[in-house]
Amino acid sequence: MTVPSLSVSPADLTTVEADVLVVGVSKTDDGPRLASDVPELLALQASLAAIGITGAADELRRLPVSGIAAASVALIGLGSGTPTPNELRLAAGSALRQLRGIDSVALALPVTTDDDVLAVLEGAAIGAYAYAEHRVSSASPTKRVASSVIVLADADSALAERAAIIATAMHTVRDLVMAPPSHLYPETLAAAAVDLATAAGIETSVLAEAELAAEGFGGILAVGSGSSRGPRLVKLSYSPAGATAHLALVGKGITFDTGGLSLKPAGSMVGMKYDMTGAATVLAVVVAAARLGLPVRLTGWMCIAENMPSGTATRPNDVLYIRGGTTVENLNSDAEGRLVLADGLVAASEEQPDAIVDVATLTGAARVALGNRYAGAMGDTEFVARVVDTATRVGEQLWAMPFPAELRPMLNSDVADIANVKPGNTAAGMLLAGVFLREFIGSIGEGDDKRTIPWAHLDIAGPANNEGGGWGYTGSGPTGVTVRTLLALAEDFGAK
Ligand code: BES
Ligand code: MN
Ligand code: ZN
Repeated sequence: MTVPSLSVSPADLTTVEADVLVVGVSKTDDGPRLASDVPELLALQASLAAIGITGAADELRRLPVSGIAAASVALIGLGSGTPTPNELRLAAGSALRQLRGIDSVALALPVTTDDDVLAVLEGAAIGAYAYAEHRVSSASPTKRVASSVIVLADADSALAERAAIIATAMHTVRDLVMAPPSHLYPETLAAAAVDLATAAGIETSVLAEAELAAEGFGGILAVGSGSSRGPRLVKLSYSPAGATAHLALVGKGITFDTGGLSLKPAGSMVGMKYDMTGAATVLAVVVAAARLGLPVRLTGWMCIAENMPSGTATRPNDVLYIRGGTTVENLNSDAEGRLVLADGLVAASEEQPDAIVDVATLTGAARVALGNRYAGAMGDTEFVARVVDTATRVGEQLWAMPFPAELRPMLNSDVADIANVKPGNTAAGMLLAGVFLREFIGSIGEGDDKRTIPWAHLDIAGPANNEGGGWGYTGSGPTGVTVRTLLALAEDFGAK
C-alpha cells in the first residue's frame, strides 16, 4: 500500500491536467448547484437536474466537458448547505474510492480554510485504498487506485505531507487486517510492528513466551497456549525530548480468533482475522505521531496471540494469573480479548501515564447494540467525554455507553478474584466486558491525590470492518476507525 502523491496547487481548473477533474455539486432547495464558478462548466449547470443529479453525498457522475485541460469531469455530491470539513473529507474520499482505475485526479471543491484543504487531502488519500497483495491471476485484477491527487487551493503545501501521514496510518491498519492469518500471526505481526516503528525512530521491545512467563503475563500466555505460534507483547515507546504529557494505548491483537476450546461455529469464525485491529491501530497511531513529531510521550502496548483450540489450549475453569497477581477464572475461552488486555492494562498502568485508552474488537454485543458505524466508549466519564468530543471533531463516530457498577457481581467466581464471563448471559455484553477491564486499571498520585488513571475503552467490533457497500472514504473491508481520533487525542495531550 502507498498513498497517492498528494499536492496542493492554486492552478486554474481550466488549465490543470488530470485524467479526471472532480467538481462538487451542492443540494439546494432550488435543485443541484455546481459549487465552483467556472465559465466552462456553466452549460452543465443548466442540465444537472435533467440528467438526474441531486448533489446527495456519495453521488458520483462522470461527464465529458470541453474547454478544460482535464480529460473528463466527475461531479461529486456535497449534500446541502456549506460543506463542513467532515463533509468535504467524505466527498473527496467518496470520489477517489469510486474513481478506482483512474490514474490522476484533480479536486476542485469549495475550500476556504486550511482545515477544509486538509480534510479534502485526507479524504482523497484515505479513499484511494485497495488491497491486492494475494491476487496473482490476471483473470481477477484489482483496479488500481490513483497515483496522483492534486487539490486545487491556495494553501500551504505542508498540509499534503500531514494528510499523507494520516492516510498512511489508516492504510497500515487496513493492510495488516487484510493480511491472511496464514501470513500474519503473532511473530510476524510483532516483526511488522518492530520494522514500522523502528523506521519512525520509535523504541521497541518484544516479549516472547519465556519472557512473558518470567514477567507474569498469564492472560496473554493462556490465550496463546492453544496455538503452535506463540504469543507476543510488543511495547512501543515514543518519547520525544521535552514531552511532559504521557498517553498509553493498549490494543487487542488476536491474529485469529477461533474461540479456542469454546469454539465458534463455522460461520462466526469467518472474518476473525480482523481481531488484531486494535493492536494494529495502536501501532499505526504511535508511528504517525512520531512521523508528525507530536510533542507527547506515547507508549503503545500490542497484546498479541492466536486463539486456537488444541491439547495445550486453556480450558474453561482454568485459573489464570494476570500480570500483577489478579486471578481470573476462564469460563469461556472465546472471551479472550479481555484476558490479553488485562495484562496490557496492568503493564500500561505500571508506568503511571496520564491516561490510558484501549482499543479492541471486543464483543459481538457491541455490534448488536451500535451497528456498523459507531464504536462504543466506556470508562472514566469525563475522559470518555473528551475522547468522544475528539472523535466528533475529526469526523469519527464514538458513542459513550453507560457503565453500570452493579454489573460487577455477575463476574464473581467460585475460585478466583473474577471470572471472564457469566456463562449463558446475553445482557449488556459490551458493558460487562468493560466492567471486567476496569479491574486492571492502576492509579496515579500519592496520599490524598491518589486516583484511578483516567481510562477509556473503545469497543470497535462494529465499525472496524465495513461489511456493507462503500460510503464516503470508507470502502468495504477494514476501515481504520479510531486512528484519527487517537492521533488527535495524542496531539491534544501534547498541546497541554
Ligand atoms: N472477537 C470477538 C468479538 C466479536 C464477535 C466481534 C463477533 C465481531 C463479531 C470476541 O473475542 C468474542 O468472541 N467475544 C464473545 C464474548 C462472549 C463469549 C462473552 C462474543 O461477543 O460472542
Ligand atoms: Mn473471542
Ligand atoms: Zn476476539
